[in-house]
Amino acid sequence: MSKSLFRVKPVEPAPHVDAGEPVEGSLQGEATLKRTLSGRQLILLGIGAVIGAGIFVLTGQAAANHAGPAIMLSFVLAGFACALAGLCYAEFSAMMPVSGSAYSYSYATLGEFVAWFIGWCLVLEYLFASSTVAVGWSGYLVSFLTTTLGLPFPAELASAPLGWENGGFVRTGNIINLPAVVIVAAVSGLCYVGITQSAFVNGIIVAIKVAVIAAFLGFGVMYVDPANWTPFIPENQGTWGVFGESGVLRAATIVFFAYIGFDAVSTAAGEAKNPQRDMPIGILGSLVVCTIIYIAVCAVLTGMANYQELGTAKPVATALELVMRDNPGANLAWLKTAVEIGAIAGLSSVILVMLMAQPRIFYTMSRDGLLPKLFGKVHPKHNTPYVGTIIVGVAACLLAALMPLSVLGELVSMGTLVAFATVCLGVLVLRFKRPELHRPFRVPLAVILCPLGFLACMALFFMSFIEHWGLFLLWTAIGMLIYFTYGYRNSKLNKA
Ligand code: ALA
Repeated sequence: MSKSLFRVKPVEPAPHVDAGEPVEGSLQGEATLKRTLSGRQLILLGIGAVIGAGIFVLTGQAAANHAGPAIMLSFVLAGFACALAGLCYAEFSAMMPVSGSAYSYSYATLGEFVAWFIGWCLVLEYLFASSTVAVGWSGYLVSFLTTTLGLPFPAELASAPLGWENGGFVRTGNIINLPAVVIVAAVSGLCYVGITQSAFVNGIIVAIKVAVIAAFLGFGVMYVDPANWTPFIPENQGTWGVFGESGVLRAATIVFFAYIGFDAVSTAAGEAKNPQRDMPIGILGSLVVCTIIYIAVCAVLTGMANYQELGTAKPVATALELVMRDNPGANLAWLKTAVEIGAIAGLSSVILVMLMAQPRIFYTMSRDGLLPKLFGKVHPKHNTPYVGTIIVGVAACLLAALMPLSVLGELVSMGTLVAFATVCLGVLVLRFKRPELHRPFRVPLAVILCPLGFLACMALFFMSFIEHWGLFLLWTAIGMLIYFTYGYRNSKLNKA
């Protein structure tokens, strides 16, 4: 048995694939995914998935409670770990342009058991992230409706009925997070209809959110007072993670969430027109653009207002409010409204790309026999994995309706870091096991950068997530149960 747990799916070096060429599964005459996405669309998908709750929601609290103006350094640290993982994703996705992302890469290198575990962790990354961001989206929308537009919205219909206290779930007295359910359902509908339509809508949303951020930077920079950047790293308050160098590290583990999603580009590898060239461009391009945007936003944000006043759920809008308070002549109300609309639009594209990614991972797992066949069903007209899309949509709606943001967010980061670390390891393993494989993109200095990426991701993992360890273990146990009762027996490799 132990031998079959570590059976690897033989890597077939992908021949050069181009638009219109058949994708996995088409040999059986079934409907399959179609190669329709260009390099530009892939970069936009990456930016669509990355810029969201991390910058629009989490930055303020990370600066106010942990890092101060040095939140910029925290973004550099988290970005460094992601850049190393991004290089590894780029190597794998150009070499194996399939939809399974880290799951497929692990299957080819570390064996079926690890691959299943990673696939299961990716559910935390994509499915749970879509619900997490939907909860953040709901918060922004309700605040916009009630405070900016002055419309009423019942609080018990906009918050989770479950909260987390003293290591366990508690009832909050709320009924349901209705706006979060509505946005997940609407976006799932779009994913059902087609990837081209989804990529088109994503492109529009990305344009809006980047324009809003550019306007914030352009106008905000005029109100920067360099005195707000001193002290750059506020003095530690005697507890690990509360300012000082340890605070910068703690904030890095929080803002890591802001980078999650660049790897979602790799789940579209099966639908990219020229994946060998465009995957590295899409993954690394979106990562570079987002890192620059993040550091610029943090610099302006912490320059416009004292970091201690930014600890709200909408720090970018808060910074503008503070500037207007301190400079009565500054007419920035229009920009504040634009930022709120940009954030609402921006968060919805994150939900969109995450909800696109998850069914594609399930699709690949089902083609390998590790999940039931219905996850591999492709719609004859829309060419989307429609059954998986419906199942994922329903699960994401339930999580968004019931669960609190803090629990969801930490599970997302834990699952993602494990997946990133495994991909870093996988690249190195395959370099030794199959050095002859054609690699359209290669991680430079792989013997140094791959282990460094693994260690950086594991360090972020162990530094922060103590609170919800139990839930992570429970999630892993459920995954093992499904694997041993279904996946292990039905695996195509088992049958072969
Ligand atoms: N990176 C995504 C966000 O910040 C998940 O919303």
